[in-house]
Amino acid sequence: MTKLFLKKLNILKQHGIENKIPNISYEIGMFLNMIIKNKNIKNVLEIGTANGYSTIWMAEALKATGGMITTFEISIPSYKEAQENFKKFKLNKYIDSIFEDFLKEDKILKNKNIKKFDLIFIDGQKNKTLDFFNKAKKLLKDGGIIIVDDVIKFKNKMSEFYKYIEKQNKFYYIILPIDIDDGIMMIINKKLHK
Ligand SMILES: C[S@@+](CC[C@H](N)C(=O)[O-])C[C@H]1O[C@@H](n2cnc3c(N)ncnc32)[C@H](O)[C@@H]1O
Repeated sequence: MTKLFLKKLNILKQHGIENKIPNISYEIGMFLNMIIKNKNIKNVLEIGTANGYSTIWMAEALKATGGMITTFEISIPSYKEAQENFKKFKLNKYIDSIFEDFLKEDKILKNKNIKKFDLIFIDGQKNKTLDFFNKAKKLLKDGGIIIVDDVIKFKNKMSEFYKYIEKQNKFYYIILPIDIDDGIMMIINKKLHK
């Protein structure tokens, strides 16, 4: 990761703050980037591209592992802005950016012959987190990881998801208060990690 890359990311982050784009924090970006590199992750799915800030953090790591991120965005202005940013960072090659409601997608991934992912990052509409999770878990490879953003700040909007995750018995989960005002939830399948 070059200093220039971090400088450009910082400019994008500032632009997000000024324009009220709910981008992930630097810390979460760095965490996602490190986990992809360290675990040699190759296939990532993201729900909620916005202007592409989080996607860029992950794509930079996927360039190193020889992987690819597939990212879904429901808003056309956000989707278009993300395409511009991917070009600016010269990372388009590692990003498959899809303008579609993730919950309505049923053939896109199939038609692209993409079956399962090593890492799924959920950062869409907060009160739909349980729906995203239920769809995402079927797309997770054995041994894969699901990461959900904003689980502290928006716990109230995620009450259905919390109810589900607290009573289920299939996944281990942990909340990591990773930055100054929020955190992520990391979820892995129990089956493979007794
Ligand atoms: C919190 S923002 C994502 C921020 C982005 N991950 C980042 O950190 O740079 C949430 C985004 O999810 C998108 N979104 C909400 N529901 C969605 C859905 N069902 N499918 C795809 N995108 C969705 C919104 O339009 C919004 O741009």
